[in-house]
Amino acid sequence: MSQPNLKARESGGLVLDGHAGLRIDGARLIDTLERLGEIGADPAGGVTRLGLSAEEHAARVFLGDLCAAAGLEAETDPAGNLFARRPGTRRAKPVLLVGSHVDTVVQGGRLDGAYGVLAALETLRVLHEHRVSLPVEMVVVAFANEEGALVQTPFWGSRMLCGSLENPLAATDRTGRPVGAYLATAGGAPDRLADVAWPPGSVAAFIELHIEQGPSLERQGVPVGVVEGIVGRTILDIGVTGEAQHAGTTPMADRRDALTAAAEIVLAVRRIAAEDRVCATATTGFIEAAPNVTNTVPGVVRLSAEVRDTDPARQARGEDVVREQCARVAAASSCRVEVTATMRSRPVSTAPALRGVIREAADRLGLPHLTMPSGAGHDAQIVARIAPVGMIFVPSRRGISHAPGEDTGPGDLVNGANVLLQAVLGAQAELGRPDGHDSSPG
Ligand code: GLV
Ligand code: MN
Ligand code: MN
Repeated sequence: MSQPNLKARESGGLVLDGHAGLRIDGARLIDTLERLGEIGADPAGGVTRLGLSAEEHAARVFLGDLCAAAGLEAETDPAGNLFARRPGTRRAKPVLLVGSHVDTVVQGGRLDGAYGVLAALETLRVLHEHRVSLPVEMVVVAFANEEGALVQTPFWGSRMLCGSLENPLAATDRTGRPVGAYLATAGGAPDRLADVAWPPGSVAAFIELHIEQGPSLERQGVPVGVVEGIVGRTILDIGVTGEAQHAGTTPMADRRDALTAAAEIVLAVRRIAAEDRVCATATTGFIEAAPNVTNTVPGVVRLSAEVRDTDPARQARGEDVVREQCARVAAASSCRVEVTATMRSRPVSTAPALRGVIREAADRLGLPHLTMPSGAGHDAQIVARIAPVGMIFVPSRRGISHAPGEDTGPGDLVNGANVLLQAVLGAQAELGRPDGHDSSPG
């Protein structure tokens, strides 16, 4: 199977001719976003729809029903990735993959991931309704468990599709419950994971539309971001072991307090990025103390550190410095500190040709755009191992994400989806060759 090159501009007119005025149905997109946001709505605020949970499964069922009502076909692979296609399209050739994820973090927002999936589905619906002939089949994807908030394997679905996850059945949640137990109840098939990876050359290109999740576009008053690169990320699991002792009788000098040692690590992690500028960001987001009672000196603490940068050398240096700081704290506190890297994702660049396609799409719609990096991780950075990728951002109100306050104005959401539709048409024009291939059902 040969992979089309992103060139062939001379064929560009084929798909775009007559379709530059095509638009998504904005009201329908906003309605489906609201309905999907009800699945996993958290009484404490935001949406908790963790990857491979019953809620993520329910979201896939919702997407499947939407597809059926729209005359599209949906199927879920053994890893829990959902794919939507137009019926009757040929499958034995590279496809244009478009989508994102529908899982969230704990008390996340309703747009992170979900917007990119529903806008992709809306795009496919519009193309189907208008019987637009596509030289390259468009497939919508909702990748499973992008966040890794429950089963601790971020980018699970996209890594499975790309065949880059070694020993997937070893993935667990924080209590050790295996991924297989989750898959079995979330529409997956743990005994068929070997079938999930797509063969080399089967993705012609991948486009992901996403909320920015940071403040840049809103601050600059620009409605569209053209992503040039995605940050690399290293996640470290840190175990601090001291000794649980009585809080009233143990002299201060005799304590091996795992929580005060962990507190020093938390501050050191912040310093690495905020003051020493070793890497772009460094964060402790998870911490758990045991036995976690008022009158016992904590004996064991588990915490996370993650470092991010668009430069792989700075990302690696960030990890090294976290490890050095952990060793320093261990020596000073008489606690044992163990550091394990649970994930390293590489920084990636988006494909220049797809950036061009996205800019041209925004230009056709009269929307100003800004070329920018992504500080958040995305499935696109995994798919970049096997195919050219492009990403479109829309503004996030107050730059808030991974929190209940995550929001984007309806006008920006509709604009972004129209950029996606026009970018899909533009990418088709780039990828397609005037050789008679036609994936439309006619
Ligand atoms: C993905 O959501 C990330 O944490 O960047
Ligand atoms: Mn996220
Ligand atoms: Mn996301």
